Amino acid sequence: MTSSPLIELIREKLDIVDVVREYVPALKKAGRNYKANCPFHNEKTPSFTVNPDKQIYFCFGCSEGGDVFKFVMNIEGLTFPEAARKLALKAGVEYGDERTHAMTEADKERLELKKLLKAAAAFYHKELFSPGGEKAKLYLGERRLSKATVERFELGWAPAGGKALMNELKAKGWSRDLALKAGLITEREGGLVADTFRGRIMFPIRNQSGETVAFGGRVLDPEGIPKYLNSPETVLFSKRRTLYGIHEALPQIRKSGRLLLLEGYMDVIGAHQHGIDWAVAPLGTNLTVEHAGIVRRYAKDTVVMFDDDRAGVQASVKAANVFMESGLYVRLASIGGGLDPDEFLNEHGREEFEKKLDSAADPLDFQLNLLFKDPKNPPSSQDKAKAIGDLLETVARQNDEILKSEWIKSIAAHFGVDQSSALKELRKAALALPQEKTKPQADPARGIPQLEKDFLQLLLQYPALLDQSTGLDPEDFSHPMARKLFLALQALPAERRAKAAPLLAEQFPEDSALILGLAVTDFSSGTAPAPAAAQEIRKLRRKSLQRRVKELQSLQHMDPQQFQEYSRLMSELKSSAKDL
Ligand code: CTP
Ligand code: MN
Repeated sequence: MTSSPLIELIREKLDIVDVVREYVPALKKAGRNYKANCPFHNEKTPSFTVNPDKQIYFCFGCSEGGDVFKFVMNIEGLTFPEAARKLALKAGVEYGDERTHAMTEADKERLELKKLLKAAAAFYHKELFSPGGEKAKLYLGERRLSKATVERFELGWAPAGGKALMNELKAKGWSRDLALKAGLITEREGGLVADTFRGRIMFPIRNQSGETVAFGGRVLDPEGIPKYLNSPETVLFSKRRTLYGIHEALPQIRKSGRLLLLEGYMDVIGAHQHGIDWAVAPLGTNLTVEHAGIVRRYAKDTVVMFDDDRAGVQASVKAANVFMESGLYVRLASIGGGLDPDEFLNEHGREEFEKKLDSAADPLDFQLNLLFKDPKNPPSSQDKAKAIGDLLETVARQNDEILKSEWIKSIAAHFGVDQSSALKELRKAALALPQEKTKPQADPARGIPQLEKDFLQLLLQYPALLDQSTGLDPEDFSHPMARKLFLALQALPAERRAKAAPLLAEQFPEDSALILGLAVTDFSSGTAPAPAAAQEIRKLRRKSLQRRVKELQSLQHMDPQQFQEYSRLMSELKSSAKDL
């Protein structure tokens, strides 16, 4: 665990429960701990646990855990110094230059990459306002984007030549290696390297903190392909986890608890320009469960509005299903008239757009409306049969039981079937759904005898009990992992004992799930910790004597020394039996 007086000061001034609650508002008291659905994986029953005594968190579902710094690093995707800076601000502690603090090599590289991407965004933006960017600027004007919007989203222009950015970066002293890693330049056939983005309008893609982590580029030439090009996946950028506009939309999403999902860059930018500032978009991929997991941290309600074409409608139903399965409420809005949301806003304005949002239908009604849209042209019985299948799949994904039964009624009424047969079909649909992708976690404590585990748990929760365990020998633990942890606990200097759990978790990353899991679990026993420990020490000692006796008994011959040991052990065993 990175430590310095400054870090300790920040730690002292903050309560992990308050910090976590900002990201996980649903956090609820449960015994001595706090619990909620895990923000790091998709789950329906809470296994995410925050322990205020130890100031640690741990998820029994995905094994994610650590102290308050680790939490902020993980949830915001920050390096340690960045998380520390953020927490220092919250704690009201002065934090100097992050370079003066310890950083891993990977942390340093991430920071350098972010700086490089920031420089690249500034370059593209400057190019947009140079003579070379004239056509691009005109195009953005045609798309009715204001200067303020272009500034706000830092839109830019990547010159067509293929060397503009590369030369700029070289002149500024950036290494070619880093530019390759950032995906800004790309190796082409023959080993030559060129700018990745050429002749494109540039959209910096920002993370939740507003840092540029990638780019999207749109062709200007209508013949150009692909229409949109994204940066490759890097250590900073994963498409599956990134939503365009999230940084700009977060304040409003947090405030209102709702999020609007649109289809593309231009839609999001147009929406924000018109004051619809809770809009985000996936990056040319389907909405993923990872996206939904991020959304769930901030919002409960979502509205999906995709382009008014066949592909858009299909994709919006799919996205709605993903939100629903993650326990979010979702409604689907359709814009009609063959317009994209940004075009509609430009033509009809914010008020009309909000009317469309207000009339958004729940996923079932949305699909029913599509099917029965045209009264003159009712669906054939074949269409109906297929549609029932699709609808029931949507119902099967709904976690809200009340909504579910409403939907069944609605389907039965629309199709003139009785509810019980609709229910029967629903069961089949539910069985056919792909199962939730939570890997069953291997029990991290596999193989450690219960008694040894219990005792380690006591020590992790009440490290002062170590004083009581001086009579215990590491050999008294039969399991190597238990032995190792006991040794490490004994080796802790007294003043660091209070932080035993996060310290050990960092010392043994491969066992951190076990360590944190034990430390956050409520110690539940009728006995107070000290007498409980005394009892367990006696039992551990006795078990260990029995093991040694067995070992000696299994020998073909005992030499006199071994026999002496055997006799001594036997009498110790006899007398220890009285204490139990
Ligand atoms: N997209 C992509 N790659 C493509 C086409 C589209 O990644 N070759 C993604 C982009 O994120 C884009 C979104 O899908 O914003 C929607 O695509 P599309 O409807 O084709 O583009 P529009 O948003 O309508 O783009 P524009 O309005 O600029 O024409
Ligand atoms: Mn469009």
